[in-house]
Amino acid sequence: MWNFRRIFARSLLLLSLSHRNSFSSRTYRTVVCSTQNIPSKPFYSCSIKPSGFPIFHSSSTSKREEHSDSDELDENQSEYEGERLLVSKDSDKKNEVELIMDIIRRPDRSCIAVRNNLEKCGVIPSPELVTEVLSQVRNDWEIAFTFFLWAGNQPNYAHSLRDYHSMIAILGKMRRFDTAWTLIDEMKRGGKNSGESMVTPQTLLIMIRRYCAVHDVGKAINTFYAYKQFNFEVGIDSFHDLLSALCRYKNVKEAESLMLCNKDVYPLTTKSFNIILNGWCNIVCSPREGKRIWWEMNNRGIHRDVISYSTIITCYSKSKETKEVIKIFDELIATGITPDRKVYNAVIHSLAKSGLVVKARDLMKSMEEKGISPNAITYNSLIMPLCKSQRSSDTHEVFDEMLQRGLMPTDRTYHAFFRASRTSEEVFSILKKMNVMGCCPSHDTYVMLIRKFSRWGELENVSKIWNEMIHNGLDPDRSSYVARVHGLFLNGMLEEAYKYHVEMKAKDMVPEPEIEERLAAWMAGKQKGQASMKAKCSDS
Ligand SMILES: *[C@@H]1O[C@H](CO)[C@@H](O)[C@H](O)[C@H]1NC(C)=O
Ligand SMILES: *[C@@H]1O[C@H](CO)[C@@H](O)[C@H](O)[C@H]1NC(C)=O
Repeated sequence: MWNFRRIFARSLLLLSLSHRNSFSSRTYRTVVCSTQNIPSKPFYSCSIKPSGFPIFHSSSTSKREEHSDSDELDENQSEYEGERLLVSKDSDKKNEVELIMDIIRRPDRSCIAVRNNLEKCGVIPSPELVTEVLSQVRNDWEIAFTFFLWAGNQPNYAHSLRDYHSMIAILGKMRRFDTAWTLIDEMKRGGKNSGESMVTPQTLLIMIRRYCAVHDVGKAINTFYAYKQFNFEVGIDSFHDLLSALCRYKNVKEAESLMLCNKDVYPLTTKSFNIILNGWCNIVCSPREGKRIWWEMNNRGIHRDVISYSTIITCYSKSKETKEVIKIFDELIATGITPDRKVYNAVIHSLAKSGLVVKARDLMKSMEEKGISPNAITYNSLIMPLCKSQRSSDTHEVFDEMLQRGLMPTDRTYHAFFRASRTSEEVFSILKKMNVMGCCPSHDTYVMLIRKFSRWGELENVSKIWNEMIHNGLDPDRSSYVARVHGLFLNGMLEEAYKYHVEMKAKDMVPEPEIEERLAAWMAGKQKGQASMKAKCSDS
């Protein structure tokens, strides 16, 4: 217990030292606490130092491959990005959402115009409306915030916890951390109607994740310390949340040192190691580092559980090291740990990828005999490699079997089919099937198709897909824009590419540096050309 008290006392010092530059001054006032009895040595003496400077203008983007064409299996893809709540059966509500979206989508929208139009629209906000609209504009923080403020100003409407969280996630994603902290400050005062603090650990976790996404490890850690300021319990679970958030955005090295530095306060456990192992294995995708952690666990006497095994097996499976996969699977059986579905799925995927389809099928049988029934992911594990190797009759056989079992194909199943498709007719027919089967295309789906049609030079079909995406309520995110601009650029449509580039930047999204440079060069050349034309004309 004493350790816990000490770490918090120290963390207060850290907070008071580092918040000065970091958070908005309003927030600063709320988090500064008594700094009595603080030992002089800072608590955090490992290699990662909380950075004192805001990096809101840093150009570093999340290195996460947002829409890699990879065929990997990730069972955990969820991220808090504002929730989607589509099926509001109430048609009045739906019309109101459309009314608001019309105002928001007007071509020459400025925040002021949007605000004025919202003031005049006569719609009374409801929690469903606010959730839905925020979800639809989540990639345009200024408009989202304008709408959010408008809703909060309406009589009889006060933002719910969910509204705040959606808005904070949107702001954080666009690095408007100061504004996000201002909202948290407002929540602390109980929101519009004042009262008890509305801040929950989840609120801070959203901030932690957003800082991790921009690799601001120092701020992420500071925010973790702020748990205490809000009187939240800070147990090992919260620490694990912090480690997971760091790892999710590839700050695995930092997470690893943080875990080791704090081993006196948060004892090393299988779970902590699994988080780091997963970071190296499946986020950074380095089997070498994964193996290092694997042995580190062994050397420190940390028990490896079935999750550890499935993590390392997935890693080797991804890097096509089938031999290692089989070796570790055998080791797992030998240790007497019962493999779970995830382990089986990874091994099946690995076997199928190396063309050992019969073996993969055998393993599928044996997992069933052990009472673990295959799920959609198991089938995807087979379908994806089969699609890739163009074994279409086998693929369809497996797909039919999947349907017969009543397993719903997932977006990954369809993505595999898209990847294997060779004509636009095929693509549109798969898309249709997907819709009919009730699997909604995601941003990933559309981005993949935008790229595909761009590669084929079918720009009309790119526009078609783009419009369908918007029509389906998916507002273009950064990856969509990147794919769109890149596609136009590759097809020599510089004028058009530039238009989307400008649109993207107007929404505060960071373009790909290389394309940006080349478009800027093109624009400069064009302006020069126009200038010299003008000069020539006036000469004659
Ligand atoms: C995946 O997510 C679920 C639920 O959010 C969680 O319980 C599980 O531990 C996660 N698995 C991994 C490997 O991160
Ligand atoms: C777009 O797709 C349609 C339907 O498959 C196809 O007939 C058409 O040729 C494609 N458009 C272009 C510009 O290639």
